Amino acid sequence: MSNNLLRESVITESLNTKQNKSVFSDIDMTHWKDYLGDIITDTLWLLGARDKSDTHSGDYHGNFVPQIAYQVITRYTKAGDIVLDLFSGMGTTLIECCHLGRNGIGVELNPDVVSASSKRVALSENPKNIKTCLINGDSASSEIKDVVFSKCREYGRDNVQHVILHPPYWDIIKFTDDERDLACSPTCEDFLEKFSRVAKNAYELLEKGRFLTLVIGDKYAKGELVPLSFECMNVCRNVGFKLKAINVKDIQGNEKGKGKQGNLWKYRALKQGFYVFKHEYIIIFRK
Ligand SMILES: C[S@@+](CC[C@H](N)C(=O)[O-])C[C@H]1O[C@@H](n2cnc3c(N)ncnc32)[C@H](O)[C@@H]1O
Repeated sequence: MSNNLLRESVITESLNTKQNKSVFSDIDMTHWKDYLGDIITDTLWLLGARDKSDTHSGDYHGNFVPQIAYQVITRYTKAGDIVLDLFSGMGTTLIECCHLGRNGIGVELNPDVVSASSKRVALSENPKNIKTCLINGDSASSEIKDVVFSKCREYGRDNVQHVILHPPYWDIIKFTDDERDLACSPTCEDFLEKFSRVAKNAYELLEKGRFLTLVIGDKYAKGELVPLSFECMNVCRNVGFKLKAINVKDIQGNEKGKGKQGNLWKYRALKQGFYVFKHEYIIIFRK
């Protein structure tokens, strides 16, 4: 038997005997190879075109592709678990919860976005008849924790089993005029202070041993790269999360990369010595 085959059979054997039931997902480890075509296990995420099935749409500026929620919900939760999204936006996470049979709680600051996304989530296919709710509130406030805890009890749980955080990338997109909006932060320090309050809430709301997903990108300001991703990653580590993965996701259909506008960005990049963003991060933590 070659070394590789031997190693593979040893791995398969130890999975079969000790770990064929995952404590945090419904992935059947006795058939782990069956999942490899669907579930990403590498750090480079080339997700391709946006999934526009069912009620998913790319019409909300700043929403993420549903494939991100699909990957982390499948990988890190079991049927009936609660997934919490503290920057719910147009409800991409909650729509995927409906598809995958996980209960979902979303928190969103903008009341208009809450009402638009509630309608969209209600129209989504929900074969397992799971419960979702959208809360209009500030995820950085201490009050939101009690509201989410009481929702968990309504769903028969003490806490949530996965958290997704997709905050504004500081001020690159304007969402509201509300000073509690992370995108309205006058300085990067202020943005990170608000984000650290959200991360603390996430830590307290999450069940021990479970995972948090942070989706974030960087920005340029005044001729300098502002590494928001790594700053927010460190905030999460400082509140107590263990870092599990830094995944790089390609940005598809970025207008900065297309046509005349794309050429203008390439020209500026060459002239000024920077690079045009074509990636963002999906950073995974465990409590
Ligand atoms: C990048 S978007 C999230 C998009 C979402 N992942 C989706 O797919 O639709 C960030 C969202 O956070 C909201 N937001 C900003 N500050 C907030 C806060 N303090 N509490 C709750 N939501 C906030 C914004 O209104 C915006 O909808």
